Amino acid sequence: MLDQPNGSGQLVWPTDDFTRTPYEVYASEEIFAREQQKLFDAPTWVFMGLECELKEAGDYLTGTIGTTPIVLSKADDGQIHGFVNKCAHRGAKVVRELRGNAKFLKCLYHGWTYDNRGDLKAVPMQNGVMGDGGYPDDFNPENHCLRKLKVANFSGVLFASLDLNAPPFEDYLGPNLGERVKTICHSPLKIWGYQRQTMDCNWKLFMENTRDIYHAPMLHAFIPQFGMFNPAKQKNELILEHGGAHSGFFTYETEDAAAPPPANQKKMQGPAGDGGKKLVFEDPSVARGVGELPNGLYLNIISIFPASLFTCVGNAFTIRQVRPIAPDKTETVYVWFQFENDSEEMHDRRTKQSNLFGPAGYVAMEDAEVMESTQQMIARGLESGSTFMEMGGRDVQMSGSHGVTETSLRGFWQAYCKYMDIPTPSAAAAE
Ligand code: FES
Ligand SMILES: [Fe+2]
Repeated sequence: MLDQPNGSGQLVWPTDDFTRTPYEVYASEEIFAREQQKLFDAPTWVFMGLECELKEAGDYLTGTIGTTPIVLSKADDGQIHGFVNKCAHRGAKVVRELRGNAKFLKCLYHGWTYDNRGDLKAVPMQNGVMGDGGYPDDFNPENHCLRKLKVANFSGVLFASLDLNAPPFEDYLGPNLGERVKTICHSPLKIWGYQRQTMDCNWKLFMENTRDIYHAPMLHAFIPQFGMFNPAKQKNELILEHGGAHSGFFTYETEDAAAPPPANQKKMQGPAGDGGKKLVFEDPSVARGVGELPNGLYLNIISIFPASLFTCVGNAFTIRQVRPIAPDKTETVYVWFQFENDSEEMHDRRTKQSNLFGPAGYVAMEDAEVMESTQQMIARGLESGSTFMEMGGRDVQMSGSHGVTETSLRGFWQAYCKYMDIPTPSAAAAE
């Protein structure tokens, strides 16, 4: 449990290292509320969408930073502006569509109308009606704009921060993961499609899952069974940044990664099925990509603190915005992308492989099942006690060459405590 020594109300982490996480942080309403303030209304960055979604002046998209609804919009100055989607009058949601194009954004309630910078441009009945009512003479629309955000465009990928003093996104992400994002987003991006998935679990169970590599061959049994990941023929790289807050796991194929799928058909044999016959993919290209990144780079999982995720595997490329809804409810929004110069064949290949992920995909469905069952165990009065994360040691190692470790999870919790102002017992004692 999180301690509150001397009834001070100050939370203290139960251990000096980050090998334990008290279960209550996945279930507590108070912690959830504190996260919105300390992690999201904070100098952190969250993925919002792609630059190519906002081509024309007036194009907009919506999303959330934590639980705060936001809008990103391209103004006629060509710049992308971000603001909180909450009317400056009495708090109604201004933009109700997921995305679209509009010269002005008008609140449904009393018609306050904003431009694409979030500035208030028109107020119905500002001067009253037939001499009645109206705002006082000193009412100035310039004082009632939508709350502005900081927006970053990194290789065509848009991030936003509620804190105008947040560090530049490039510095926040760090140079090593920045290079990997640039490698993935190597040429102009194009939308492939969108998906949304709601899970009955805490958002941090999901973020842990994105950093937990070694569960894959156990939970996703088809991966080893069909020879999709073969450690003997792969080189792995683990990179942590920003004090362990962000984590990236990358796999390079040491064999000819560009070999067309049929050449791999023999390797894609599963367990013996009925009659003892080995199961094989009739069409290996449903799960097997064609190498398109340099040096055989095949798998990229970049988990950006607190709530953004790149999963680019084979030819299926997606970035997710993770939306905490309640302590036990999380939505993930997938933005799938391809490249402007893709051939039709490559487009079809991405479509086939997209079944690996997505709400009903082979991987995400299995992950959701374990995360929801974990949440249920926490909710059944079993919230006392802590997790155990000593795989690969007890410290936060900032790099590695394999995924048989929980260092990326320990890094997440180290960053979590820092942003949440939850000291370790030793730090609390020294205060
Ligand atoms: S709440 Fe938006 S105009 Fe009144
Ligand atoms: Fe998984």
